[in-house]
Amino acid sequence: MFPRIARYRTVDEVIERFKELSIDLPIDHEVLTAESGSPLASPLTMGSITAGNRFVIHPMEGWDATSDGLPTEPLLRRWRRFGISGAKCIWGGEAVAVVPQGRAHPHQLEASRLGTLGMQQLCSLVHTAHREKFGTDEDLVVALQLTHSGRYARPTVAGASPRIAYHHPVLDSEMAISSKGDPRIVSDQEIEKEGGIIDTFVCAAENASAAGFDMVDVKACHSYLIHEFLSARRRPGRWGGDFEGRTRLLCSIVERIRERVPRLAIGVRLSIFDTVPWRKTFNRGEPLIGKNEEYDCGFGINIHSPHEIDLAEPIELVRRLRDLGVVAVNLTAGSPYNSPHISRPALFPPSDGYPPPEDPLIGVARQIHAARKVKQAVEGIVTVGTAYTYLQEYLPHVAQATVRSGWIDAVGLGRMVLSYPEFPTDILTSGKLARTSICRTFSDCTSGPRNGLASGCYPLDEYYKRSPDGESLRAIKSRE
Ligand SMILES: Cc1cc2nc3c(=O)[nH]c(=O)nc-3n(C[C@H](O)[C@H](O)[C@H](O)COP(=O)(O)O)c2cc1C
Ligand code: SF4
Repeated sequence: MFPRIARYRTVDEVIERFKELSIDLPIDHEVLTAESGSPLASPLTMGSITAGNRFVIHPMEGWDATSDGLPTEPLLRRWRRFGISGAKCIWGGEAVAVVPQGRAHPHQLEASRLGTLGMQQLCSLVHTAHREKFGTDEDLVVALQLTHSGRYARPTVAGASPRIAYHHPVLDSEMAISSKGDPRIVSDQEIEKEGGIIDTFVCAAENASAAGFDMVDVKACHSYLIHEFLSARRRPGRWGGDFEGRTRLLCSIVERIRERVPRLAIGVRLSIFDTVPWRKTFNRGEPLIGKNEEYDCGFGINIHSPHEIDLAEPIELVRRLRDLGVVAVNLTAGSPYNSPHISRPALFPPSDGYPPPEDPLIGVARQIHAARKVKQAVEGIVTVGTAYTYLQEYLPHVAQATVRSGWIDAVGLGRMVLSYPEFPTDILTSGKLARTSICRTFSDCTSGPRNGLASGCYPLDEYYKRSPDGESLRAIKSRE
């Protein structure tokens, strides 16, 4: 077990730990409030829209929509809590599938079922909650995240129904065993045809715009369909192979949305690097592909040495996205299914994960450094950083320093706001945190859904702790 963050009493002790781990991260000793000039309180302009500060709420699903893809009370509660957080950009809310068969689970929101009216309900809920708490919502930016779950599509309780960009040497066989899924390649025709994949994203974006969203996020991360296309070297034809072909799906969707809904800002949540798939073996995490084996199924990695990051392609892609009119990229990494320690650094693994193979601070630093390199290389597009939650008490110190030093434009908050929705407000108003609300990365919000339950902060949020799902999760964990 690696040392817990809570044991570090001062910033100097954290700096000592960074040194032990050979991590180079900026960290400020004093946390500033908005009044005392926090860089996190300065406005963030993304194209023609401006958010009032530099805190962004990452999209987070709850596996809690109705079985036909509509909101429920816990789902609305989560969006309301995003609205009262004090962050001025709500990036996506949660992943909304563009078609029913693109849902990652039977309780994911679905765009065509929501339609403009359902989307309006979500958008105005966030605005109203924000306005009621802060007096104005004029400087609030709200986006909707659009997705197709591809390989991880599981639209009904009947089971997985994976749609893939190409056959993967490891994941295909695992999926056939674990889910009896029959991974089917998405055909070129399905992408291009009228009413095909591109059209469904465009149609959902049109509805989002009509519903009042300022921006849509075309989700290209975490192993879902568009992200998988970025590594589709093995796919023949127009939509795979070389860099041009592999990025064509994402770029075409962006272009088509720009054409059809020019007033709508476009963001992209992008996994800027992958790694090889990891699995639990004999109670520890192991990479399924060796350091020196060839592996051509990742994006942003060196195919000859696939544990190494190579940002040349991701940087080129971000440049292209900027040139296509994308105003902001939310930079993330890896896959919560195949490399959770890369994607969501945590001290405690989710139930389908493995104990952390490294101090999770290394995972945090990996993402912050990669995002910095992208920001340094590409001007003219806003960058949002990910994986700050594990820093816990010291998140404000590092977030403030990364923005102040120009490493990143804005800091995204994921798990931290599930346990502690007022986190951004507390930092910007008093600089002080309610320690008992800090996310300790127990991963129950991921373990819940992995066991067919809703997601929520079961350890720290009474609403979930006392729920029937809370009881079920405790029972499941006690049997493990
Ligand atoms: C319960 C849960 C649900 C998530 N749902 C989404 C999602 O819908 N879309 C997305 O892009 N990322 C999703 N993520 C990933 C987070 O947005 C974020 O990238 C991740 O938690 C790392 O950031 P953090 O360290 O601040 O938590 C989810 C994460 C969690 C824990
Ligand atoms: S369950 Fe709560 S404490 Fe655990 S990782 Fe999720 S938000 Fe954090």
